[in-house]
Amino acid sequence: MFPESFAEKWIETLTEPGDLVLDPFCGRGTAPFQALLMRRQAIGSDVNPVAYCVSRAKTNAPAASQLRRRLTLLEKHFEPAEWEKQRKALPSFFRLAFAPRTLRQLLFLRAELRWSSSNVDAMIAALTLGSLHGEMSSPSYLSNQMPRTISTKPGYSVKYWKAHELMPPTRDTFGLLRTQLAYRYASDPPEDSATIFHRDFRMLPTIVGSLPKPPRLAITSPPYLDVTSAEEDQWLRLWFLGGAPEPTYGVVSRDDRISDRNQYWALIADMWRVLGSVLDENADVVIRIGIKSMKPGELVDAVEASSAFSGRPTTLVHHESSAIARRQTNAFHPGTKGVMVEVDCHIHMA
Ligand SMILES: C[S@@+](CC[C@H](N)C(=O)[O-])C[C@H]1O[C@@H](n2cnc3c(N)ncnc32)[C@H](O)[C@@H]1O
Repeated sequence: MFPESFAEKWIETLTEPGDLVLDPFCGRGTAPFQALLMRRQAIGSDVNPVAYCVSRAKTNAPAASQLRRRLTLLEKHFEPAEWEKQRKALPSFFRLAFAPRTLRQLLFLRAELRWSSSNVDAMIAALTLGSLHGEMSSPSYLSNQMPRTISTKPGYSVKYWKAHELMPPTRDTFGLLRTQLAYRYASDPPEDSATIFHRDFRMLPTIVGSLPKPPRLAITSPPYLDVTSAEEDQWLRLWFLGGAPEPTYGVVSRDDRISDRNQYWALIADMWRVLGSVLDENADVVIRIGIKSMKPGELVDAVEASSAFSGRPTTLVHHESSAIARRQTNAFHPGTKGVMVEVDCHIHMA
């Protein structure tokens, strides 16, 4: 994720109010959300259902009263006994992760929420995803002890809970969602909305043609080389959105956690092809990209060289880099130790 301040700085520098901003790998929607706050228009795409759901909710926030009504209705229709059979059929991870009542509520919401076609349901699903797992000492999370950022592997979690004799906390999902709703709506969401596509970015050329104007700025952070896999790291959230009850790899995106350099640069070349075809004349591209075992200068050179795949004249206007040791990545993916270099490049496209 890049911080809001990163998106804010570049949107302020490179666009005017009313301009269209694009993030083809929008993740949690930081760039489109920031664009809306700054009175720009925004579109984003992401193949990962968690990213899509959260970005859509953030940039298409319904009125709080609509959400409260929907929650009341859902709660009214919830029959705990109907979910007992399904609860018992889940792998043992789930029964140690969530108290029986919580898990029945989650199964019900998982089946009921139409997050891909309704903004109200997308927001309720996104609020559930935000509370699905985390520190069990905090009443904001539904699960037994887990990190809130990534879903640990089932085998590891079960071993940890058993070794520490941890039982899942009893939580009322509906009550927690109401609390989260009040918290999220303490400040008003943006008035405008963005369009988020649940698509591979390679589909953008067929979609963007139908928009009233072409994007003026692309600000994005593509998957990093051999760093982490959004699909594995978010497996429990993906399960809540209808996915498998175990971690999967390569089902959601073929571009996640690429470790082959040629394959990686082919992905970046595809990104440039897409940007070259969809962006306005005289557009700007700002990319934050991360890679291991490459010097910052080499990475900047590679990004600049790859921009030729846009098929348009490009100029590297600015770049800056930082080397960061990713402690969290190391802890959860022991094979991926090492210093990662992150580079920000601003490229102008005529
Ligand atoms: C580094 S993250 C972006 C993070 C984002 N800037 C944020 O602040 O949350 C890369 C994103 O690319 C998405 N992604 C991977 N393959 C994709 C594809 N083929 N098309 C669109 N998005 C893809 C991943 O799901 C992930 O959310």
